[in-house]
Amino acid sequence: MTREFASVGVVGLGTMGAGIVEVFARNGIDVVAVEVTEAALERGRATLTGSTDRAVAKGKLAAADRDALLARVNWQVGLEALHSVDLVIEAVPEHLDLKQRIFAELDRVCKPETILATNTSSLSVTEISVATTRPNQVIGIHFFNPAPVMKLVEIVRTVVTSAEVVADVEGLCARLGKVDVTINDRAGFIANALLFGYLNHAVSMVEARYASREDIDAAMKLGCGLPMGPLALMDLIGLDTAYEILDTMYRRGGRDRRHAPVPLIKQMVTAGLLGRKSGRGFYTYERPGSPAVVPDEQTPVSAESTLDAGARGIAKVGVVGSGTMATGIIEVFAKAGYEVVSVTRGAEKSAKLFEAVKTSLNKGVVRGKLSEADRDAALGRITWSATLEHLADVDLVVEAVIEELSVKKALFASLDEICKPGVVLATTTSSLPVIDIAMATQRPADVVGLHFFNPAPVMPLVEIVQTIRTSAETTATVKAVCGELGKTGVVCGDRSGFIVNALLFPYLNDAVKMLEASYSTADDIDHAMKLGCGYPMGPFELLDVVGLDVSLAIQRELYLELREPGFAPAPLLEHLVTAGYLGRKAGRGFRDHTRR
Ligand SMILES: NC(=O)c1ccc[n+]([C@@H]2O[C@H](COP(=O)([O-])OP(=O)(O)OC[C@H]3O[C@@H](n4cnc5c(N)ncnc54)[C@H](O)[C@@H]3O)[C@@H](O)[C@H]2O)c1
Repeated sequence: MTREFASVGVVGLGTMGAGIVEVFARNGIDVVAVEVTEAALERGRATLTGSTDRAVAKGKLAAADRDALLARVNWQVGLEALHSVDLVIEAVPEHLDLKQRIFAELDRVCKPETILATNTSSLSVTEISVATTRPNQVIGIHFFNPAPVMKLVEIVRTVVTSAEVVADVEGLCARLGKVDVTINDRAGFIANALLFGYLNHAVSMVEARYASREDIDAAMKLGCGLPMGPLALMDLIGLDTAYEILDTMYRRGGRDRRHAPVPLIKQMVTAGLLGRKSGRGFYTYERPGSPAVVPDEQTPVSAESTLDAGARGIAKVGVVGSGTMATGIIEVFAKAGYEVVSVTRGAEKSAKLFEAVKTSLNKGVVRGKLSEADRDAALGRITWSATLEHLADVDLVVEAVIEELSVKKALFASLDEICKPGVVLATTTSSLPVIDIAMATQRPADVVGLHFFNPAPVMPLVEIVQTIRTSAETTATVKAVCGELGKTGVVCGDRSGFIVNALLFPYLNDAVKMLEASYSTADDIDHAMKLGCGYPMGPFELLDVVGLDVSLAIQRELYLELREPGFAPAPLLEHLVTAGYLGRKAGRGFRDHTRR
């Protein structure tokens, strides 16, 4: 039998605390909600009423249930009000000394049997616990933002937390409809340890003007299916809170440079740009606390003005290659109404490619997404050839041949001789430096990267990679073409991994390192990222789908180019690849797929 919690206390009613109050009150538990000042108390109350009113407006909560929910909350200034609750959750700012002071005070005020919990994201629960005379009754209960929505709770036990307390809190989480993972006290626990290096890296991209905030966020949403981009997430978390978490993780987590907060974060915090809660962070919001983004001076101008920036008209497109990417890209262009010249290395390859494109278009017809007439029209727009000379009069060439620099360079040198002046020459490389390919021609200003995602007809994202020689007209041209294709083109610099892979793979690699360190299991880590951060797949699920060999190769490239020690491939990943456990395609990766 686990303990019944009739009433709980929540200390600190900011971004997290107000949401935690809602979680308890929604589940029939009386809450004493505590703040330092009347004004802060009022803000917390306004957050709760705003959130419950929205739930009523959306039909998710009956008005009577909202009233009952609100009646369960007792709003108070000062910790004294917590004398008779069964459990307290602290959610004050991420400072060890502040939390220790509050825990010492809670220890004095609360009943001897009360469990004292912290919602800290990165501080040591053990260090907080020793400020009390009951460290065995101190535990971490780490909710995710927004607390009423996110299903995951990380329960953090220290070496002295009693097993009974852990069981009681696990029982409570089940009653709240949450899924818990119980773990030891380590900086960042599971989710934040994997998340914050990624967030910090995304901020460094903005700081270095590698890509715009909109493009970084769009890349991660559209390329990885994440619910929000990293910069919008920073705004939701709060830049002050994110700074403290990074700083603590840097100091507690082995001084990994990837956790040293990017200077821009501190500057923004100092300038009062805290994110949603202050109305401005990476984005500008309608008002403080509002989720609605409004345009500001950094908001990109509309698509039409891209054309004004010198975009060239494109009617005829050459696609070189006969693999998976070329097949998809030919289909995408033909469906969008472009005349396409497909060039392969022989008639046999062209025949196969024709069949592949036809089969894919037919699938669209069967699914009712494409009419037979449109399919026939699309096929009619494609010319099949085995000679590069047929590219003499196209306006854009998209190269999608084997990922080998020498092959691509030789091809671009030929294109340079064959194609008319003013043609945009694009490469779909996912890992080679575009500038190397550009310099194989006499016209590097016309060369650009156009990184489609697989499967090209489905994935809405294209990374537009501009080298230091790419002209603004070339970039504007391919950006406009992406729009015509119904894709979002995000512009970035010519660095290993572009945006998506550079942000995604180090995170996957970190998950492998966490598993290797036996901190948690593959199942719990996958759960934590899906239920705590809304990721469509956990890191081990994704690694098995992508292929461990492919992932290792990308991670190696990133490490070799950036020389960031934290990017060194996880030894476990190397071993699994050596052992032939390459993921789904091999029947076994992190999981055994032969038995499912
Ligand atoms: N923001 C997130 O996404 C997130 C997610 C999970 C956990 N956390 C953790 O939750 C905790 C709170 O973070 P937040 O983002 O909600 O911070 P916040 O700045 O939004 O809110 C903190 C609140 O604590 C109040 N406070 C300060 N001193 C107090 C005191 N002595 N007594 C009572 N209240 C006091 C402040 O008035 C403020 O309202 C931190 O430990 C943070 O790491 C944050």
